[in-house]
Amino acid sequence: MELRAPKGTVDMLPDAARAWERLSKTAHALFARYGYEPIYTPLFEHTELFARGIGEATDIVTKEMYTFADRSGRSLTLRPEGTAGVVRAAIEHSLVPQGSVAKFYYAGPMFRYERPQKGRMRQFWQIGVELLGAAEPSADAEVIALLVRYFESLGLPRERRRLLVNSMGDEACRPAYRDSVAAYIRAHEDGLCEECRRRADANPLRAFDCKNESCQAVMAGAPRISDALCDECRAHYEAVKRRLDALGVAYEEEPRLVRGLDYYTRTVFEVQAEGLGAQNAIGGGGRYDGLFATLGGPPTPGLGFALGFERTLLALRAAGVEPGAAEGVAAYVAAVDESARDAVFGLAMALRDAGVAAELDHRGRSLKAQLKHADKLGARVAVIVGPDELASGEATVRDMLTKDERRVALVDVPARVAALIG
Ligand code: HAM
Repeated sequence: MELRAPKGTVDMLPDAARAWERLSKTAHALFARYGYEPIYTPLFEHTELFARGIGEATDIVTKEMYTFADRSGRSLTLRPEGTAGVVRAAIEHSLVPQGSVAKFYYAGPMFRYERPQKGRMRQFWQIGVELLGAAEPSADAEVIALLVRYFESLGLPRERRRLLVNSMGDEACRPAYRDSVAAYIRAHEDGLCEECRRRADANPLRAFDCKNESCQAVMAGAPRISDALCDECRAHYEAVKRRLDALGVAYEEEPRLVRGLDYYTRTVFEVQAEGLGAQNAIGGGGRYDGLFATLGGPPTPGLGFALGFERTLLALRAAGVEPGAAEGVAAYVAAVDESARDAVFGLAMALRDAGVAAELDHRGRSLKAQLKHADKLGARVAVIVGPDELASGEATVRDMLTKDERRVALVDVPARVAALIG
């Protein structure tokens, strides 16, 4: 059997891996300015955490989890998302004492057994934040603005992305709304696919997300959550929108935005990008004021978002932005003949120790071949050592752009190279 990466997974080769590092570095720097601290929870958790946290009736829990029994027979699941694990850790380590706020960010792989297609993987990578302990609408506005600022800082043009927002209500108003959607589904069964008909009982709001065109047409006439919010939820939602307006964050209200995880209450949002086809959500999130209690913790409000690395990269590239550009080699150290190999090795190491990206040849190639390689790597400077240079304790430093050459004492090479590469 030919061994290949499992279906729905990819090797992150250097172009993509550089992009991942760039995206996570940009995220860490930006999120830190907003007071977020890093947190890394396990890649697998007890299955029950996700079943309870994400919701027994969700697609993720019913169809998409990588669940297995470990050697002692415990049911474990590869994490399909990051929020449940962070909230579990916050409860376990009492990270959010009553009255305090804690902010966390994370980056890493998630696992969902979905049908692979462009932008949809079985192992995919997310960057996310969770803001725990604040129920106020300003927290929602901050989290949404942070997601938008992040895409801005990556250079994803404004006209290529849309921010959708909605409020899903809370335990006071959502149950009645769910019932009204379930009743609507039952009354319009003829136009709906089998799955949506089945959803009427378990999870009627998911029918808004069906990709089937006739279901979408039917659901366009379904009752809208915006007409069903209780006074508190309506006031909260209005206050979030006011803050976004004040910040100049452009958004569209989408009353059919329901998201695929059951823990959401009140604010939900999603960023969609151009040029991705069906899987166009590059990031999304929302508030989950009941999740702590669902997982056995003290009642604690919270909200957050996660963005998908693969989809963000597709969106950036579709917009002509390449976040994974190679940094390249600054200096190439070349030996004229065998007698200079030791000196060349020492010089390359000295340059690296001085902070210069330096490369050398390990395979005894001719000077011509070495300089060709230097060109190919885009080296800005070549440092050449031969018997003449060795005799005088020097090296020839060549500016590959201007072709200007200068003899420099070996000890001065790092300073000279640093000056040339600026
Ligand atoms: P989610 O919407 O399920 O939310 O996922 C967030 C992002 O992950 C999506 O917008 C998408 O870009 C990416 N994504 C999801 N599934 C896949 C897949 N199969 N292949 C590639 N990319 C994918 C959550 O996961 C929530 N935990 C977000 C959150 C944090 N809510 C509150 N806090």
